[in-house]
Amino acid sequence: MIRTDRHGDVLVVIADNPPVNALSEAMRHALGKAVTAAVADPAVRAVIIRCDGRGFFAGADIASFGKPSSPPSLPAVIDAIEASEKPVLAAIHGNALGGGLEVALGCHYRIATTSAKLGLPEVKLGLLPGAGGTQRLPRLVGMPEALSMITTGEAVPARRALEIGLVDRLAGDDSLEPEAIAFAREILLLKEHPRTSKRTERLAEAVRDPALFDRFRHEIAGKVKGFAAPEACIQAIEAAVKLPFAEGVAKERALFASLVKSEQSRALRHIFFAERAAAKIEDIPRDTSRIPIARVGIVGAGTMGGGIAMNFLSIGIPVTIVERDQAPLDRGIATIRRNYERTASRGRLTQNDVERAMALLRPSLAIEDLADCDLVIEAVFENMAVKKEVFRKLDAIAKPGAILASNTSRLDLNAMAAETERPEAVIGLHFFSPANVMRLLEVVRGAKTGPSQLATVMDVAKRIGKVAVVSGVCPGFIGNRMLAQRSKQAQMLILEGAKPWDVDRVLTNFGFPMGPFQMSDLAGLDLGWRRESSKGESIRDLLCERDRRGQKTSKGYYDYDESRRPSPSSEVEEIIAGYAASRGYRPRSVDEQEILERLLYPMINEGARILEEGIAQRASDIDVVWINGYGWPTVTGGPMFWADGLGLGTIVAGLKSHQARLGADFMLSPLLLRKTSEGGRFN
Ligand code: 3HC
Ligand code: NAI
Repeated sequence: MIRTDRHGDVLVVIADNPPVNALSEAMRHALGKAVTAAVADPAVRAVIIRCDGRGFFAGADIASFGKPSSPPSLPAVIDAIEASEKPVLAAIHGNALGGGLEVALGCHYRIATTSAKLGLPEVKLGLLPGAGGTQRLPRLVGMPEALSMITTGEAVPARRALEIGLVDRLAGDDSLEPEAIAFAREILLLKEHPRTSKRTERLAEAVRDPALFDRFRHEIAGKVKGFAAPEACIQAIEAAVKLPFAEGVAKERALFASLVKSEQSRALRHIFFAERAAAKIEDIPRDTSRIPIARVGIVGAGTMGGGIAMNFLSIGIPVTIVERDQAPLDRGIATIRRNYERTASRGRLTQNDVERAMALLRPSLAIEDLADCDLVIEAVFENMAVKKEVFRKLDAIAKPGAILASNTSRLDLNAMAAETERPEAVIGLHFFSPANVMRLLEVVRGAKTGPSQLATVMDVAKRIGKVAVVSGVCPGFIGNRMLAQRSKQAQMLILEGAKPWDVDRVLTNFGFPMGPFQMSDLAGLDLGWRRESSKGESIRDLLCERDRRGQKTSKGYYDYDESRRPSPSSEVEEIIAGYAASRGYRPRSVDEQEILERLLYPMINEGARILEEGIAQRASDIDVVWINGYGWPTVTGGPMFWADGLGLGTIVAGLKSHQARLGADFMLSPLLLRKTSEGGRFN
């Protein structure tokens, strides 16, 4: 794992632990040994630590947390590096993350390639940097930067790292080692070398103004609500100011030990691995051939088509977008530009970036213009006849080998594929709204979808920054199929006597950003509703008939004020009460526990059905869908992980106790029952 190269009196220690140079136990041992040997070797006067492969160390081995380990610990290796009388340089390329950056902080000097990124992402795993990072980073870069980097977990690019004092020098991407050696030779002329743990000058600001910590807590409160790790990070960083280094480290270690055992961190680590597992398809080998995607075509420039286009334009892939009329085409293009301009006005893009993206967009009214596209995604109306027509046309004009994708959110992909002479080319790409923002992409694998097509879109998904999850064909795929269960219970609960705001509150208390009725109001109650054919057959019909069509009409399930703040509506209560009475319901009081169980347990049951039917490959895929597409609270690890924690027996008992109210078509999943009787788990 470690080899060394001598360049006169400079020793280069090179680590190699593919794929990301995680600091596994073996790597820690090897690095510790190499440093000890270098310190003991009289012929060595300076040491450079660098890595082979994709980047510098990407942190501790996340899979090893909670398992027994043998010394030396990572902090001990880092302390030994810092204690060395001979200068040690970190030479960084790619990512230096978590424990990896902590190794670099223990070095006396840091040099990084211009494309490198440095960060402490532990907070995203429900942890804090546990190898001295909370004590050394503020000593090097000062308090505002350290607080922000550690509590957000966001990495900083090398140039910024240079500005804030995190690295001492930048190197060319192709000349890291020679430049590091040259740097080492300069350093050799110095008598003393800085030890980060001994530095105090950058702490002065916080010593003078200790209230800055509470101000910072206040500032981020909204963003970190429900997460335990950010507060622990702040406490550890505060200790860097209030306590001597050794005591600060002890505090950091104690906080780390308690976080690593927490349910939240277990859940977040589960999601880390779940997202990576989702990219793997059991029967598709890694070396499956890929189809080069140089140009993307999109049919329909509406809400979804425009957002989908932006994903590709933003990474430099040209897009041809086709509409049926000039007006919707112009509207669609204008919306794309407006979205980019808005991002630019917030400083997250330059005007040049905007123009570069827009220049890659080719608008058209002729579907024949998609003939040179390697991937075509249709995002026309959710209507099977319209979709079939589009697929027939695409089949006629698309070049051989092109992938033909549908963004349908619930229709039968196999029926669309059957309209073509090339069903192997047809696949579902279910983006979520807004498509340029939401991370989730459900990749729908039709009965005849080809392996190359599937492997290609999984790669494309990663390139455009999506988390892709494969789903088989069924109404609503993974996400919307489970959502349907929740929506059905939400509707039944309000007929039985719960108020919409009670139902929503239970879910927001659970950690969802909003409940089903708030969601309906936001989306608009009149999606797919028409006044001419409305017969007051549902609460939705009755609300729309009274022009309560959601936030856009300032009233839906809730009343909204000018700032779109919701308040309960007595009119809605009356409408629901009247409708419920007409259907024979006698109002009863429904407690919060029942609401929670009725909303969430049927979803777990449906998740189990999705698994037993082979629609999802693994339970963790379902967790990834719900966390990235539907606001399921991340800290619970997703529905199936949450169910495991609660105990599947509890879920089954709950479902049985409510069975009479769950609806005539409710059926317990045989898989859920089997797992429960075997004492098993989904994950
Ligand atoms: N430990 C164990 N495995 C890791 C790992 C880590 N720190 N980082 C990545 N991996 C694994 C992934 O699970 C994946 O495995 P797979 O191929 O079997 O699925 C493989 O390495 C490649 O990872 P990615 O698919 O994520 O590769 P990318 O090139 O897309 O991204 C990366 C590379 C940016 C380094 C990304 O992997 C990443 O963000 N890793 C985690 C970094 C992190 O959180 N570090 C902090 C760890 S906690 C810590 O250091 C505690 C310390 O303070 C004591
Ligand atoms: P939309 O109504 O905003 O856009 C559809 C566009 O397609 C319209 O501009 C229309 O003019 C155009 N169009 C219709 N027929 C066409 C044809 N034959 N050729 C070219 N253009 C044509 O609809 P939206 O919301 O963008 O939905 C599109 C698809 O995305 C649907 O299948 C929908 O189910 C799916 N979807 C929608 C989501 C949402 O939140 N809106 C989320 C996920 C998927």
